[in-house]
Amino acid sequence: MNATSRTRLNQTPEWAALGKHREQLGSTHLRQLFADDPARGTGYTLRVGDLYLDYSKHLVTDETLALLRELAAATDVAGLRDAMFRGDKINTTEDRAVLHTALRAPRGAVIEVDGENVVPAVHAVLDKMAAFSDRVRSGEWTGHTGKPIKNIVNIGIGGSDLGPAMAYEVLRSFTDRSLTFRFVSNVDGADLHEAVHDLDPAETLFVIASKTFTTIETITNATSARDWLLTGLRAGQDAVAKHFVALSTNADKVAGFGIDTANMFEFWDWVGGRYSYDSAIGLSLMIAIGPDRFREMLDGFHLVDEHFRTAPAEENAPLLLGLLGVWYGAFFDAQSHAVLPYSHYLSKFTAYLQQLDMESNGKSVDRDGNPVDWQTGPVVWGTPGTNGQHAYYQLIHQGTKVIPADFIGFAQPVDDLLPGLVAQHDLLMANFFAQTQALAFGRTPDEVRAEGVPEELVAHKTFRGNHPTTTILADRLTPSVLGQLIALYEHKVFVQGAVWNIDSFDQWGVELGKVLAKKIEPVLTGDEGAEGAGEQLDSSTAALVTAYRELRDR
Ligand code: F6P
Repeated sequence: MNATSRTRLNQTPEWAALGKHREQLGSTHLRQLFADDPARGTGYTLRVGDLYLDYSKHLVTDETLALLRELAAATDVAGLRDAMFRGDKINTTEDRAVLHTALRAPRGAVIEVDGENVVPAVHAVLDKMAAFSDRVRSGEWTGHTGKPIKNIVNIGIGGSDLGPAMAYEVLRSFTDRSLTFRFVSNVDGADLHEAVHDLDPAETLFVIASKTFTTIETITNATSARDWLLTGLRAGQDAVAKHFVALSTNADKVAGFGIDTANMFEFWDWVGGRYSYDSAIGLSLMIAIGPDRFREMLDGFHLVDEHFRTAPAEENAPLLLGLLGVWYGAFFDAQSHAVLPYSHYLSKFTAYLQQLDMESNGKSVDRDGNPVDWQTGPVVWGTPGTNGQHAYYQLIHQGTKVIPADFIGFAQPVDDLLPGLVAQHDLLMANFFAQTQALAFGRTPDEVRAEGVPEELVAHKTFRGNHPTTTILADRLTPSVLGQLIALYEHKVFVQGAVWNIDSFDQWGVELGKVLAKKIEPVLTGDEGAEGAGEQLDSSTAALVTAYRELRDR
């Protein structure tokens, strides 16, 4: 089915059937659903690779799931999925293929874009990254003064930062701890300052990560980093070659910046920024964990790609997770989705998913440019448990909002945890299980009274329950498991975009702010000759700019 021939989502019979079903479900409680089906806790589960996925604590029945799958069939999710894997240009507003799945395809695979098999080029870049990583890790790659590299500073923003920064944190226990890694993204000079102020330039390598190599934050920070390096080394431009490498699709701009294109690691326009950390954008991560671990991570991605591509709808985890999100957004008016990992190493995981999900599905027109009148992507948020329990979980438990949540936990702590700390893992996981239990089943007024609570406090101590959660449990947090998790979420986001009939792979919504900032900057700096100088500002912005200049120049 092509986009233009598609019936509007909320006018399909499948949508109407779901609406009717939602009315019938009414306020049916999870307590009831569990009582009706004693096997629900084992039946509503899936296994994908190393991931055990429990969706029993969702406000769904067999009928709900069947109706949701019918919606997926009616909106041809499988057709769009196959088109993506095939290399069709499904990012229609940018006329691009969407082939992050090719980044983790095995060497022998054949995936064509414009008639050319892209897999050999993917592996050629991976091999080049591996050779470079090995040289840095072994100390063979030396800086301008002959000292080995000890510090790696990744400069990038958005997809050129969040992925490698997140994965570095997640896989810390697999990293070479003799090397220091820093990730700089913000154009606020404080970010670069904090990253480099205690480093020796002679031992520092800058990895400039930018798909376009035009992003103002990255180029500004890269320029400042180059100044810092050359000043610190008291060296000329020729020192750049040993201390700067680039990850980009834009060789001309890389060369223009002064980086030798021999030290450029390439990727392609069919890799979206937020889908790119398993491409050359992962170079810092590969230096940290080594090429073998990086390849294990890619294999984890590929495992879930294959699952998504081939598993029947009833057992297809990304399809299920995507449809559950559609269900809550459309029929429960859920506005947000919490991702709550019970692993300290996943501290940047949700921030990474924010870009993946919100930049992909934060859209309000369909593929044909018509306004949608159904909910699209949710606000994605969350931080690791148990910290959140002592902060915002109150609102999830007893507030007025419907907040579906994912809980992610691991059976074993990482390998190199100090022996005395291993015992804390059971306490962490006891909290993990307790939270989804409390959210699902709550505590009734009668149960509260039975505990002897005075009547005037009963309402306050009652937990409504019935809050939907997914639990994802894995044995250990390994590179492969990280790849599996990320691919699971990538394809979940894909499913939702397909159902909602939006282009999940463009990001026009980030453009306006960039254009306006470019016009405002000369007003702040007083650069009369710059493009946009003299432009009329609205009265609020004009007054704010005046106040800023007065305060700044006092
Ligand atoms: O402005 C949004 C965005 O284009 C993201 O999609 C992307 O990940 C980020 O900026 C960085 O872009 P680049 O890698 O081209 O510097």
